[in-house]
Amino acid sequence: MAGMSLSLTLQRIVAPLKSARLGVSARVARFGFVLCCLLPRASAGELRPVGNIFKPLSAPAESVYEVSLLALLICAAIFLVVSGLLTVAMIKFRARPGDEGKEPPQIYGSNQLELAWTVIPILIVVVLVLVTARTIVDVQGAKLPDDALKVRVVGHQWWWEIHYPDHGVLTANELHLPVSTRNQRRPTALTLESADVIHSFWVPQLAGKTDLIPNRRNAMWVEPYATGTYLGNCAEYCGVQHAKMLLRVVVESPEEFATWIAAQKAPAVEDPAVRAGRDLFMKMSCVNCHRVAGTAAIGVFGPDLTRLMSRDTIGSGAAPNTPENLRSWMRDPQIIKPGCLMPNMQLTRNEVTRIVAYLQTLK
Ligand code: CUA
Repeated sequence: MAGMSLSLTLQRIVAPLKSARLGVSARVARFGFVLCCLLPRASAGELRPVGNIFKPLSAPAESVYEVSLLALLICAAIFLVVSGLLTVAMIKFRARPGDEGKEPPQIYGSNQLELAWTVIPILIVVVLVLVTARTIVDVQGAKLPDDALKVRVVGHQWWWEIHYPDHGVLTANELHLPVSTRNQRRPTALTLESADVIHSFWVPQLAGKTDLIPNRRNAMWVEPYATGTYLGNCAEYCGVQHAKMLLRVVVESPEEFATWIAAQKAPAVEDPAVRAGRDLFMKMSCVNCHRVAGTAAIGVFGPDLTRLMSRDTIGSGAAPNTPENLRSWMRDPQIIKPGCLMPNMQLTRNEVTRIVAYLQTLK
């Protein structure tokens, strides 16, 4: 069971790496991850392949890291003391020749012993509770600056809907955030909701997990201080494609972020060369589930496609966003993401070609 969940975790972390178009240094970093993170972390601007709570790169993740180190140290000390005493007892009091039929001295009702193994564990637990409670209060009560970026994330089976309410931007699955520096703090306040079942937002290097719960609004914040692409995933089992509900967070310089926001706000590209594909797309039921800003496609059941080509992956991290994968997805989404809620549209080869040509203009 433990082996299975470990291999699942590995698979979940390695899958997006495999699917990413990796540079040489990122490949080295992936190799490093597979070798239990022996190599140093990727430098700024690269894919951060390690979904690792021990390499925090944001304020809340650092607090989580500090508490987990303390808890691990205390537990390691307990383990050493207990296993040490056990080993000494086994060696010192082992049965020797001539001991047959004899019993060691039996001790009953020792107040000192009873007190020791009651009071010491209570003290240890109190320390852990106090430190944890203080960290929770610090993280949850942190006062963000008034101009903190606001992002609303809605979990769906099995993708992420992402709104930037102050900018009028709607996107999916790949969250872009500005980096925080010593001189310019740029934290992000996240509001988390769900459209169906419980999901959980988890980007280990940025913050702890927070659930997205139907009919409820949860809040969390992140303040990344290194640029790069961070990998996260849904951390609450939410159905058949839970393992492919992956999340990317692209942390950029404030200028890059402003450029990205401006590009996302612009109306959808209209390329007359792909008119056939566009007409076909608009005629079919695609428009009931997907939105392309400024067109008749206003569906909200599936991811927004207005800037589909600005994303690295399709299917919420299920596969790299390449023409071949788009074709495969259009032929039958169930190949890349079995069980996903987009049905096989039974398109002909020619229709797939036309629609993929149209989708590829949505930059
Ligand atoms: Cu969403 Cu697991």
